[in-house]
Order: sequence, then C-alpha cells, then structure tokens
Amino acid sequence: MTSQLIDGFGRVHRDLRISVTDRCNFRCTYCMPAEGMQWRAREDLLTFEEIQRLARIMVEHYGVDSIRLTGGEPTVRAKLPVLVEMLAELGVDLSMTTNGVSLPSTAAELKKAGLDRVNISLDSLRPERFHELTRRDDLHRVLEGIDAAIDAGFDPVKINVVVMKGINDDEVLDFVDFGRDKGVMVRFIEFMPLDADEIWNNDLVFPQAEIIERIKAAHPIDPVKRTSAPASRWSFADGGGEIGVVASVSDSFCETCDRVRLTADGQFRACLFATDEKDLRAMLRGGSSDDEIAEALGHTVAEKWEGHQINQVQFIRPRRSMSEIGG
Ligand code: GTP
Ligand code: 5AD
Ligand code: SF4
Repeated sequence: MTSQLIDGFGRVHRDLRISVTDRCNFRCTYCMPAEGMQWRAREDLLTFEEIQRLARIMVEHYGVDSIRLTGGEPTVRAKLPVLVEMLAELGVDLSMTTNGVSLPSTAAELKKAGLDRVNISLDSLRPERFHELTRRDDLHRVLEGIDAAIDAGFDPVKINVVVMKGINDDEVLDFVDFGRDKGVMVRFIEFMPLDADEIWNNDLVFPQAEIIERIKAAHPIDPVKRTSAPASRWSFADGGGEIGVVASVSDSFCETCDRVRLTADGQFRACLFATDEKDLRAMLRGGSSDDEIAEALGHTVAEKWEGHQINQVQFIRPRRSMSEIGG
C-alpha cells in the first residue's frame, strides 16, 4: 500500500534528488576549492543496484514521482545511461542537472535511455569570466551542450544562472536574450551559503526583486502561478517564453518543499541544509528489508524542520558543500 512521506508540517514529499557522484570536471569557485578536493572512494558510493533499490522503495511505498540526478557532475559517473535506464523503469519524471560540458557526446544516449529533462548550469556568457568562475575554458562546449540537449529532444531545457552581486549580475539581460533566442528557460538563482570555501555573505546575494526590476525595465513580464518547485516564474508578455527565479534567500519557499535527497555515499537528507543524515548505505549493506528502509525514510521526513534559517543567528551551515549534496 502506498503511504506518504509526510512531515510534521503537513508537507508531502514526492521529489527525490540523487547525487550520483561527488566528482566534477569543473571547479566552480563557489562550489569547490581550487585544489585539495578529496573524492570519495569508489566503494563508498552506492552501486546502481543500490540506488535503484532505494528509489524503488520511495516510489512503491511513498508515491515519489519525480527523480533528478545531480552530482558533483552526474555525467562524470561511468555508465550513467545504464542507471538512467534502471530508474526510467520506475515510471517517474526523470531529470538531471548538469554543467553541460559532456552533453555534446552524451545527450542523445541519455535521452534514448529514458531521461526526460535537463537543467544546465551556466553562470556567464563571457569566455573570460566563465574561466574565472569555473577554472575551465569550456564556455563553447557548454554552449554546444545546450544545443545538443535541444537537438536530442529534451523539453524543457532550463539554464541555471547563479547570480552573484558584483560578479555576474551585469549579465542578467544578456541571459534573458540568450533564453529568448534559444527557446530555453533561464532561471536566476540567488547565491546560497553552501559554497566549499565559505565565501558566501549576504552582500553577494543579488535578490529576486532586483533581478525582476532589471528584466521589467527591458521586457514586460507577468507572474505565473507558483507550484511546489523552487522557482518563481514570469512569462514574457510578447509570448517569448518564461524566466524563473530561485529566491532561496530573499523569499524562501520552504513551506511548499516536497524534496528529499540522497547523497552519492548513501546518506538520506530531508533538507538541502539538513545538519543530520540517515545512513541508508549502512542499512542496505547490513541486510535491512525494504520495509525497514521505508520506515527509516518515513521517520527522517517526519522529523524534518520547518525550513532553513539563512540570515538568522541560529543558522548552521551543513557540513557538506553543494558539490556533495547536489543542490
Ligand atoms: P525543476 O524545477 O524540476 O526543473 O528543477 P530544480 O530547479 O528544482 O532543480 P535544479 O537542480 O535545476 O536546481 C536549481 C536551483 O534550485 C539550485 O540552486 C538548487 O540548489 C536549488 N534548489 C533545488 N531544490 C531546492 C530546495 O529544496 N531548497 C532550496 N533552497 N534550493 C533548492
Ligand atoms: N547557491 C545557489 N546555487 C548553487 N549552485 C551551486 N552552488 C550554489 C550555491 N552556493 C547551483 C548550480 C547548479 C545547481 C545544482 O545548484 O549552479 O545549477
Ligand atoms: Fe561542478 Fe556544479 Fe560544483 Fe560547478 S557547481 S564545480 S559544475 S558541481
């Protein structure tokens, strides 16, 4: 019988984000240290069979209907299309968030394996700044990756732009034009305190209100009704598509959160900012039954807090950075 992953505030959780690797072929300055990143050993990572078993338990016991693959960079995990095929069998909306650099060679194969949608991270359209932010000279490959995703038939293709005040906020309108030209949905994301080097401070947050003000000065836009997804959306009055803003800091959306997360090493997190985790890998490898695992999932979500408390004195940074949690 299907029950629900429901917390003490009545929020039902149906969206699972699975980090498949902590590795990445980029070193975004706000995400990873330039050097000295310690990758987890292969045996610490869940196998595809273990990932599929946990996902199946969540689907069968709790009606989870949406799964997103994240990283690190998910395409760095060897044989990713095999995992995509295994998860596609569960009949969920299956998506991936990627830095896009491998898509020219992987998009078609991933689509064929059953991936439905991709979100591509891109924080600058200027080659020099792209290099400063990612420590790689790959802007052209990411742009090719976006084209490859469109050509492979992913729909929608979304572009994630983390906007940092004084760093790339001058590109908001360039990204708007880019999205309208390509027919992809650009989402501007407020910088969150999950960076590896702890450079985050509130002065680096370019808030939703300022993003929208800039866009409105150039293009008439109308708000679109919110869903449980993190992005608030606006449509261009001339029919030129939509933009989104993920305003985690200035306009937190925790009250409608429906997400849970699994890290590459098999830890279950009820919140992006959770300070504790449930060790599902130990349960899997210790011989727990599906029912026992389902019960542990239910307990972890039941104990979930009301929301993150960024900008309040009691806020505690999670031990792990974004590259390990997967966003
Ligand atoms: P769809 O709306 O399903 O396309 O995906 P998404 O926007 O939820 O996922 P994506 O991986 O593209 O994430 C976009 C941004 O939203 C990233 O900065 C994520 O860290 C952030 N995000 C995703 N889920 C949550 C969440 O539960 N809480 C917070 N605060 N941020 C989130
Ligand atoms: N704040 C907000 N978004 C972030 N991302 C990575 N680090 C941060 C951060 N500190 C974004 C990436 C990717 C998504 C998974 O999260 O750009 O699009
Ligand atoms: Fe890699 Fe994404 Fe982190 Fe950049 S933000 S280093 S692309 S995991």
